[in-house]
Amino acid sequence: MRYHYFMRAAVYPGSFDPLTNGHLDIIRRGTRLFDRVLVAVLENEGKAPVFSVGERMELIAACTRDMPAVEVHSFSGLLVDFMQRVGASVVVRGIRAVSDYEYELQMALMNRELNAGVETIFMLPAVEYTYVSSRLVKEVFRLGGDIARLVPPQVLESLRARLQVV
Ligand code: PNS
Repeated sequence: MRYHYFMRAAVYPGSFDPLTNGHLDIIRRGTRLFDRVLVAVLENEGKAPVFSVGERMELIAACTRDMPAVEVHSFSGLLVDFMQRVGASVVVRGIRAVSDYEYELQMALMNRELNAGVETIFMLPAVEYTYVSSRLVKEVFRLGGDIARLVPPQVLESLRARLQVV
């Protein structure tokens, strides 16, 4: 009998400025389905980010230390080109509410148009994170709100250091 081993790899792309517990939840769920989960941080300086790509990658690495299947990458240019370079054909994206769906559908179909071999799967985060986004987390933090349950402790610490809120 012959055994064939396939290393199933998925790419989880995003801005991750910063990583939230919602992202972390999707990453953990992804590791149950795939042998390797490549978290890919978009190099997009146009968005005036709070954290540099390097800082975001370090935070993701620190928060996923207990998940050996996770690798942290960065990419610029087209996602499908990055996927070709790393030899992955599955994109994972989290969908929180119906409002996410339209944009995600467009991206998934555009990626399919660019490379018919790329498959996108949508995953649902734990229900307690369905309203969490990097944008809102930053806004609430800047205004002095408590976000301790919404981001990993390392991210909270880095936000405190960066945005000087106590
Ligand atoms: O966390 P975000 O900002 O919602 O992630 C968006 C991301 C990084 C997945 C998307 O902007 C992307 O893939 N950008 C790379 C450029 C690209 O490939 N564009 C065409 C696909 S629609």
